[in-house]
Amino acid sequence: MQYFFSITIFFIVLMSATFSPKSKVNADIVNKKSKVNTTLKKLDGNAVKHYPDLSIKGASSIVGENLVLNGFSENIKGKTLPKQSKHFVCTSCHNIEKEDPDLSVADPQARLIYTAKKGLPFLQGTTLYGAVNRTSFYNGDYDKKYGDLVKPARNNIREAIQLCAVECAQGRKLKPWELESVLAYLWTLELRLSDLDLSEEELVNISDAINGKVDKAAAAQLVESKFLKASPATFVTPPEDRKAGYPKQGNPKNGALIYENSCLHCHGESRYSYYALDHSKFSVRHLEKHFDRYSRYSVYQVARYGTPPTYGKRAYMPQYTLEKMSNQQLEDLKAYIKERSK
Ligand code: HEC
Ligand code: HEC
Repeated sequence: MQYFFSITIFFIVLMSATFSPKSKVNADIVNKKSKVNTTLKKLDGNAVKHYPDLSIKGASSIVGENLVLNGFSENIKGKTLPKQSKHFVCTSCHNIEKEDPDLSVADPQARLIYTAKKGLPFLQGTTLYGAVNRTSFYNGDYDKKYGDLVKPARNNIREAIQLCAVECAQGRKLKPWELESVLAYLWTLELRLSDLDLSEEELVNISDAINGKVDKAAAAQLVESKFLKASPATFVTPPEDRKAGYPKQGNPKNGALIYENSCLHCHGESRYSYYALDHSKFSVRHLEKHFDRYSRYSVYQVARYGTPPTYGKRAYMPQYTLEKMSNQQLEDLKAYIKERSK
């Protein structure tokens, strides 16, 4: 008898789930876990098509993950190739998680707070999370730095990965199976609807559009308006008068976050640089002394221009664009370094 009842209840629940239009729309068609690119495809929007070619022997997302995180992986014969770069791994300069609370803007201060909460570093490269959802790479002023090298990479994610492997990471070009592997791994980091700032109502609207109840083009546009398809990049110079600095009042508390989550990511325990930094007064005082000078240790200098890769020692420091560190944030860092040096 009890058995009969539970079966009946089971069917009632099943029927109501099938016939209730709302739960069908929300649960079966799109939900927060749905992939942004697949959703755009269903809406006849501008979905990207740069999928990896996994017919190449040895290519897989696991190999790609090893390459991105460790710089090497085994080939099909179980042999390990030389490390992609002697100096860096991709995650020296790129996060692999979502790093902006609102993906439709590039706001370094919102990112600093968001990454600090998540325990992530604050870096010069844009996160690889959602990289496959972008259509344009090395945007804005990056053509000033890399010149014609940017041309093939601007609208081609494979070329963008290769450019970064060679120029940013100062390493070797990836073999075809490695390149497809990295791309396959990047696809595991594609955006989901939950990453976008969508209200419940908007989610229902997207579902309705997929079901042909409302305009598809408008829904596709809505989805596309919620994330940047290109990470903007503006190069800036140090302040004209380094002693006076940028005309901003520095906030040392904010500066501490930058020191901790950005500078120490690479300079802590000499991880990626011979120039070691830590929390000691000695470290901070050295930075303080040079901050506003015209010297290779000036933070204004290295933050805005980076350091060049020199022959024989090819580790270098990438510059921070305005979207990666605002002038305000640089003054905050200065205020922190000044305060800590006392
Ligand atoms: C030394 C720092 C550094 C290393 C190491 C590095 N990158 Fe980059 N990468 C950058 C910078 C800086 C940019 C400039 C554009 C941006 O990310 O905003 C960039 C850009 C990119 C882009 C284009 C992103 C965009 O939206 O414009 C991709 C893709 C990329 N890198 C992949 C990789 C991969 C894969 C590796 C490892 C093989 C790697 N990078 C290693 C610093 C680095
Ligand atoms: C992505 C890694 C990375 C980040 C982040 C980074 N640096 Fe660097 N930095 C380097 C590398 C690599 C060099 C090259 C010098 C070397 O290896 O000795 C360098 C060089 C420098 C130099 C010049 C040292 C010299 O010997 O000429 C200073 C000063 C410096 N960094 C300060 C900072 C500060 C301050 C921050 C935070 C705002 C920071 N760096 C963030 C990697 C990084």
